[in-house]
Amino acid sequence: MRMKIGAAQKIVSGALAAGLMALLAASWTRGQAADKPLTPAELEKRNALANPYPNDLGPTRIDGVVAAYPDNIRDGYKALLVKCAQCHTSARPLNSQFVELEGKTPADKEAAVAKLRKDHPEYFTASARPALWNIDAHIWSRYVHRMMSKPGCSISSVDGKKIWEFLVYDGVHRKIGANAAAWKARREKLLSEFKAKYPMRYQELVSQGEL
Ligand code: HEC
Repeated sequence: MRMKIGAAQKIVSGALAAGLMALLAASWTRGQAADKPLTPAELEKRNALANPYPNDLGPTRIDGVVAAYPDNIRDGYKALLVKCAQCHTSARPLNSQFVELEGKTPADKEAAVAKLRKDHPEYFTASARPALWNIDAHIWSRYVHRMMSKPGCSISSVDGKKIWEFLVYDGVHRKIGANAAAWKARREKLLSEFKAKYPMRYQELVSQGEL
């Protein structure tokens, strides 16, 4: 009697599992077949993921480094982890070659770039720029605004400003100066991994002047 119940249970649970699989398969095909047009936000995300960058192959968090940053800058990092990971991962901004210099006014920032160019010409050579470092007075401001204006992007101007402040501070402290050699090694590794994994896209980015 016991054996029979056990066998019956097996049959029932087997049938249940098969039924569940069939249900899953059916809903999957339905999902695939449904030709619902993508929203502008979904299209933007698909576009972001279909066109990878070397940045994407790096870490999605840098908690250890950010732990030593000032409180207000850490807030910007936390906002970035959520807000800038909607269409691509947070790796894309965090491993970017972009560096915007600090300065109270646009003119201060431009003067800082001119000074850096004189003091550290190695950041601006043909082999370094723009693949390892792309240093500019306003580059993060431009990109944060560009991302914020994309369809489906829900970043408030308060968050956008915090994120921008983090990106400026982080670039200056983690990519140049005392950490320049470590940054260069990191970027070179990302670039060679990317070139091996996506040779066509690599060539495309080079021909577009992005790398
Ligand atoms: C609505 C979708 C979306 C959101 C949100 C978004 N991005 Fe992007 N991001 C894209 C797309 C699409 C690209 C591909 C290049 C382009 O269209 O500019 C991209 C590319 C980038 C790049 C690579 C640019 C390059 O040329 O090297 C960086 C850096 C970047 N995003 C940073 C950010 C930051 C910082 C945030 C948050 C403030 C953010 N993104 C939020 C869609 C998004």
